[in-house]
This record gives sequence, structure tokens and C-alpha cells, in this order.
Amino acid sequence: MSQQSQPPQRPTPGRISKAVIPAAGLGTRFLPATKATPKEMLPVVDKPAIQYVVEEAVAAGLTDVLMVTGRNKRPLEDHFDRNYELEEALSRKGDASRLARVRESSDLATMHYVRQGDPRGLGHAVLCAQPHIGDQPFAVLLGDDLIDPRDPLLTRMTTVQHHHGGSVIALMEVDPAHIHLYGSAAIQPTDEPDVVRVTGLVEKPEPGQAPSHYAVIGRYVLDPAVFTVLAHTPPGRGNEIQLTDALKTLATPDHPGGPVHGVVFTGRRYDTGDRADYLRAIVRLACERDDLGPDFRTWLKAYVNGEMDQ
Ligand code: UTP
Repeated sequence: MSQQSQPPQRPTPGRISKAVIPAAGLGTRFLPATKATPKEMLPVVDKPAIQYVVEEAVAAGLTDVLMVTGRNKRPLEDHFDRNYELEEALSRKGDASRLARVRESSDLATMHYVRQGDPRGLGHAVLCAQPHIGDQPFAVLLGDDLIDPRDPLLTRMTTVQHHHGGSVIALMEVDPAHIHLYGSAAIQPTDEPDVVRVTGLVEKPEPGQAPSHYAVIGRYVLDPAVFTVLAHTPPGRGNEIQLTDALKTLATPDHPGGPVHGVVFTGRRYDTGDRADYLRAIVRLACERDDLGPDFRTWLKAYVNGEMDQ
């Protein structure tokens, strides 16, 4: 692949308004639940996981959301659309609070959808967004990665992109024994304690090959130059077109779409596509809820202490 070398481009201030949410994966780790239902629709307490992700985008000021969907993704579109029958039934009953809950998801953002067709990898899913995004920086939020609403990672990332230009990824320090499950970043410190310069990336490294134990997690703010790179990125690990491989290209010195910075996240994050982490997300968020928490915590303590016969 040949790319012309140009100085990194500075963004136009305040232009990030579009978010892309890839949600076209097969969700094989969650079978059989995901045989006919997208994993992003699995409930976390009483909202589907994907609604938290869209709410996070909106909280960071991104109100134009493009979801990249695949097979069985009709429920995703329905969830963010009006449901007149249900609304009518709740209004007839005078159930104003449930009516508001039903309307929340359809009033959140301007939703757009594109089909990925063949799930050829996360990089390919992002490439499907090109016609909608055009030539402005944009955010990518993975539909199965839940960032606790109290930890505003994406807002910090858009600020960093605004300041440095180029592209920004989210990193989290993980147990070195788990780095093979993630993309691993080679990094250099900057003047800001939560920001690093990314100099290289390896997707799901073999033992001993990880450049660091800083793992790439599912939030990105990308320069549109990533599309040109993705269009030329061959299938990599797992025979899929990997976003990490394209980011590695962006991170090479003076490449258009670079530099790549990383925001080191120390907040609460759950991979809702992983069964154990999904359970942790539900238990934690339920325990911390004002309406459900007090009773649920009492029950949970008794259960964990073996104080329950049945
Ligand atoms: P995962 O690596 O979690 O893959 O994708 P998956 O197929 O969804 O799930 P498992 O591993 O089989 O259980 C990471 C993100 O990229 C999206 C997924 O929807 C998820 O948000 N993705 C992945 C796509 O949109 N298209 C793809 O071709 C692959």
C-alpha cells in the first residue's frame, strides 16, 4: 500500500457530531441467547446494553448515530423507533412513568442504519460507515462495551482529539495474563498523565509479544483518513479486517489521520459480550440503583454468605 506523507491535519473545532456503533458481530460467546437476538439487545438490569451506549454518545454531544447492523438486527432498529401500540396502551392505562421509559430510546438521537452484509471484521464494519460520515472526525463506540455512565471517557477523548488532532483511542491497563484477549499498544508518555502517544499496536498478541499491558477498549475518535487505510487493509487476525491494523498504520510517523493518542481509562467498563462480565455489569448496576439496590443488596449478601436455604 502506498500513502502520501502529509503533515497531520488539525481538526476544525467543534465538528465531531457523528457516532458509529458497530453491532454486526455474530456474538458467538453468548450462544444460544444470541441465536435469534443480537447480543446488544440483552438487558442490563432493565435496558438493553445498546441503549447505554447510545446514551453515552449523546452525553458526549454526539446526536447523529449510525448503527452498523447485520443479520437478526431488526430488534435494534425497533428499539430506537416509536412503538405506537405500546404507547397507546400505556396512555390508556394512565401509566405516565412507563410511557416515558418507552419513549426514552426513540427520543435520544437521530438514528441511521447501514447493513454490513458479511461480518468481515470490525475494520470492515467501520468502513461501511464512510458514506454517512464523509470527511469529518467521528467517534466509534462498540455496541457490546459498556462504560459506566458516571465515567465520561468519550467526552475526554473528544477533548484530546480537539487538542492534538489526528485520532484517539481508549486504553485500559489490564492484567498481563489477559492482554492476549485485546489489542495491545506501544506507548510513550505525554505531559498529561491520562494521555499517551501510541507508537504501535498488536491485535491479540501471542504470549511474550505484547508491547505493553495497555489494552485497546471499545471507544475511538477517528480521523476520516482511516477509511482510506481500511480500504487497503488486508484481512488480519482471524481472517477479519482489523481496525487495530488500520490504527497501527495511522500511528506511523507523519501518516495522514495521525498522530494516534491514547486516553488511559481508569473507570468502570464491562464487556457485555462476555458472560462473566455481563453478569458483573448487571449485579453492580442493580446494586447501585436507588429503586432496586437496597433490597437486592440485602438478598445478595445473604446469598453470598450462604444464609439462604433455597
Ligand atoms: P467481537 O470481537 O466481540 O465479535 O466484536 P462478535 O462477533 O460481536 O462476538 P463474539 O466474539 O463472536 O462473541 C467487537 C465489536 O465489533 C462488532 C461487534 O458487533 C462488536 O461490537 N463487529 C465485529 C461488527 O460490527 N462486524 C464484524 O464483522 C465483527
